[in-house]
Amino acid sequence: MVYFLSVSSFFLLFLQLTSHLANSEPYLGINYGQVANNLPPPSAVARLLQSTSIQKVRLFGADATIIQSLANTNIEIAIGASNTDIPALAADSNFVKSWINSNIIPFYPSSKITTVNVGNEIMSSTDRSLMYLLLKAMQNVQNALTEAMLGGKIKVTTVHSLAILKRSDPPSSGRFDPTVEDLLKGLLEFNNATGSGFSFNPYPFFAYQSDPRPETLAFCLFQPNSGRLDPGTGIKYTNMFDAQVDAVRSALNAMGFKGVEIVISETGWPYRGDSNQVGTSIENAKAYNGNLIAHLRSMVGTPLMPGKSVDTYLFALFDEDLKPGPASERSFGLFKPDLTVTYDVMLTKASQTSLTPETPSSPTRPSTMPASPSGTPKSGAWCVPKTGVSDAQLQENLDYACAFGIDCTPIQPAGACFEPNTLAAHATYAMNLLYQTAGKNPWNCDFSQTAMLSSIDPSKSLIIVRISPFRNKVVKK
Ligand SMILES: *[C@@H]1O[C@H](CO)[C@@H](O)[C@H](O)[C@H]1NC(C)=O
Repeated sequence: MVYFLSVSSFFLLFLQLTSHLANSEPYLGINYGQVANNLPPPSAVARLLQSTSIQKVRLFGADATIIQSLANTNIEIAIGASNTDIPALAADSNFVKSWINSNIIPFYPSSKITTVNVGNEIMSSTDRSLMYLLLKAMQNVQNALTEAMLGGKIKVTTVHSLAILKRSDPPSSGRFDPTVEDLLKGLLEFNNATGSGFSFNPYPFFAYQSDPRPETLAFCLFQPNSGRLDPGTGIKYTNMFDAQVDAVRSALNAMGFKGVEIVISETGWPYRGDSNQVGTSIENAKAYNGNLIAHLRSMVGTPLMPGKSVDTYLFALFDEDLKPGPASERSFGLFKPDLTVTYDVMLTKASQTSLTPETPSSPTRPSTMPASPSGTPKSGAWCVPKTGVSDAQLQENLDYACAFGIDCTPIQPAGACFEPNTLAAHATYAMNLLYQTAGKNPWNCDFSQTAMLSSIDPSKSLIIVRISPFRNKVVKK
């Protein structure tokens, strides 16, 4: 009976870990930019998106063919009013009406338009006149939507660059640029009153560009690292994404807008760049995007916003080959024009199905207790530390995995897997669980080259060893 208990709790843990794969992932979005001459037809893109777990698409404009091709797909669409439209949107209510009439009314609701982003990165641009017009433009779009009975159904906001922060490090000291704070306050009051999100574009890639040390790269790629302590809160951050997002959260809170939600309108990592652009590689891009997606799927949230995943639009669906600037600007695409993946970050439904456990007839059936989510142990199905790894490194891996979002309560005192109480056993548990949770990609079992895949199930030995202490506990009771 005791054996059953511990086994079924183990099993429930795996169910919990894998259940997100079956459920929808409403927080997963992607940017669909158009500055290219080699993009596949929108109808093919719509089919591609439907084969993935992506639920949201952000367009920079309001291309009618694309919006139409997403009809009846249930994919949410954020459309954009361009920066050059802002003066007319701010000044001319007829222009606003015709903008809504041509870009929304013909398609809604079969095309699930949820958001209008008015302008892109205006508040950190050099165009002060547009900054002053932005709020008025947003209000006019909101009013026109309300008149069209779409108020509240379609939210209005604008997209900010992370450069809008004057301070971002440590995260708790995050504050907005004081030179735009008055204008920003108006925008935030608008967000707060209409329930639209504060959208911004964090790029750990750029943080790494300005601090190209190996430990910064690990911090940016969600890989094991020693973490960064925020002395303001005592929180140890384990990745740059959380640090950047929480810096914005702190800045919003400091201005009194605790209730305004954050939306990540862009984030990504280029897989290629000019020779002077450090960190641009397929390997790093795959690590950033793959680990970000796993982080979002874990639902751990950020230290300041625990227990939920912010809506996050990956950048980007395709390379935009006509963009100016360094090669990296043309190298963010997760998919190629022929609709194959640039590198696999487990977005396609097929790749996820392979992770979903065969549902056993009864969750208490111990013989099917899957230490491997597939239920069929295969060679290389478990992630374990290499032999000879130092205790310091094991501890780092353990801290990293637990901070990543896996449930480490079973290896805490009184937890079902606390025994054997050794660093090696706890680290093995956490590292393997992270590997299983994150999608069983080879890079999820790297841990700075201190881990390896094994065909021997580490939890089997853990179970056997921990039966007797567990039973003793029950006997004592
Ligand atoms: C946000 O909106 C709520 C009501 O919707 C209001 O009570 C509150 O004062 C607003 N906060 C700020 C900082 O404007």
